[in-house]
Amino acid sequence: MGFKGFPHDFLWGTATASYQIEGAVAEDGRGSSIWDTFSHTPGTILDGTNGDVSCDHFHRYQEDVQLMAALGLNAYRFSIAWPRIFPERTASNASADPRGIAFYDRLIDSLLEKEIQPVVTLYHWDLPQYLEDEGGWPNRDTAYRFADYAAFCYERFDDRVSKFITINEPWCASILGYLTGIHAPGRKDPQAAYSTIHHLLLGHGLAVRAYRELSRGGEIGISLNISTPRPASDREEDRLAADRAADRDTRMFLDPLFGREYPRRHLDTIPQVEMPVRPNDGDILATPLDFLGLNYYFEHEMEYDASVSEQFRLRETDLPKTDMGWDIVPEGLYRQLKWVVDRYPAVNLYITENGCAVADVLSEDRSHCLDPKRIEYLGAHLDACGRAIEDGIPLKGYFLWSLVDNFEWSYGYTKRFGIVYCDYADGRRVPKDSYFYYRDRIAEALQ
Ligand code: FCB
Repeated sequence: MGFKGFPHDFLWGTATASYQIEGAVAEDGRGSSIWDTFSHTPGTILDGTNGDVSCDHFHRYQEDVQLMAALGLNAYRFSIAWPRIFPERTASNASADPRGIAFYDRLIDSLLEKEIQPVVTLYHWDLPQYLEDEGGWPNRDTAYRFADYAAFCYERFDDRVSKFITINEPWCASILGYLTGIHAPGRKDPQAAYSTIHHLLLGHGLAVRAYRELSRGGEIGISLNISTPRPASDREEDRLAADRAADRDTRMFLDPLFGREYPRRHLDTIPQVEMPVRPNDGDILATPLDFLGLNYYFEHEMEYDASVSEQFRLRETDLPKTDMGWDIVPEGLYRQLKWVVDRYPAVNLYITENGCAVADVLSEDRSHCLDPKRIEYLGAHLDACGRAIEDGIPLKGYFLWSLVDNFEWSYGYTKRFGIVYCDYADGRRVPKDSYFYYRDRIAEALQ
């Protein structure tokens, strides 16, 4: 069916995030997060919904683990909701909530029972509201609070979890959360957004350092949604435009993680903004990683634009698109992996998210669900991973977004990314055709 050379220890996974799937937002003492506040603010979410119930994974996690086991997964990436562990502002880690911890204990134990390796994201955007009330990520102290919470998680879960991801997509958490305001906490303040970038990366670095002290020797990394756009033409100015776009969306994150300065060429286009870097921060940000996670969905095309200070603009293409309006460019996944290995020191790579929202057709009796476009998308992207491995790129695993349809942030429930359909009326799960396709691809690769 596809490329046969996936290594036997390749991780085959799916990915989810706490606020998007758990529901039960007031249960077992969970505190409130910025996404609770934001989604309950009128006008923020396309269909006026929120994550209060979502697919109710909090109560149905066993069924979900069963679905993963039947899929043949050997790994599952999920995130811990910080406000379940520390529901309130506390002075010490002794006041973590045992009920929140117990949920993740149950989940981790059920995964291990099925020989599915838990891969834990520590921060997938659900910042405790009390920390936002103290200034949120633009406040440097939040980075230290994050590292304390991370250290607590290692102490509590490290005996059964051997892979941690510090932060998911700092680009979204900073730019969408604090610049465009379309994500929580909905602020529109350039300085706050760029301070957030630095403090997220600082929190990441501090959390990696804590891991080196406390862990038994597992692995830790970060998940980025970098952008490696292709130039609209071979003209020198379009090539430069694509490279400048990578300064903004990619080097701003990757460079400091690998010991370089924030890209001057980008910062010069926003003179009103200052990066709040203090002496020694650079070393903390560049604390060596065990792996780099890439969340790849699409590739942009950039062209030269003399009328804006950035000197580039996105060019619309007529390529086929997903329901999100995102171009489908499987070859871009290969190009992105190559772009990274060519520019940054050897580090193991994972695709920690890849998938698509497409229109699914659920049968009337809810026994099956047709999603041929997702099968096509998935097949082509797995083939791109295969080509990368053939060419010697150290790609160690693939996590499909997502196991089950869920709350797609500001799009609410209007976009379905799952390979399992969720009927939100009663929580019923129906594996889609793509679920069986993925199962077969995994089985074939592990043969
Ligand atoms: C990524 C997010 C993830 C999900 C997918 C579709 O940006 O990390 O939570 O929403 O997009």
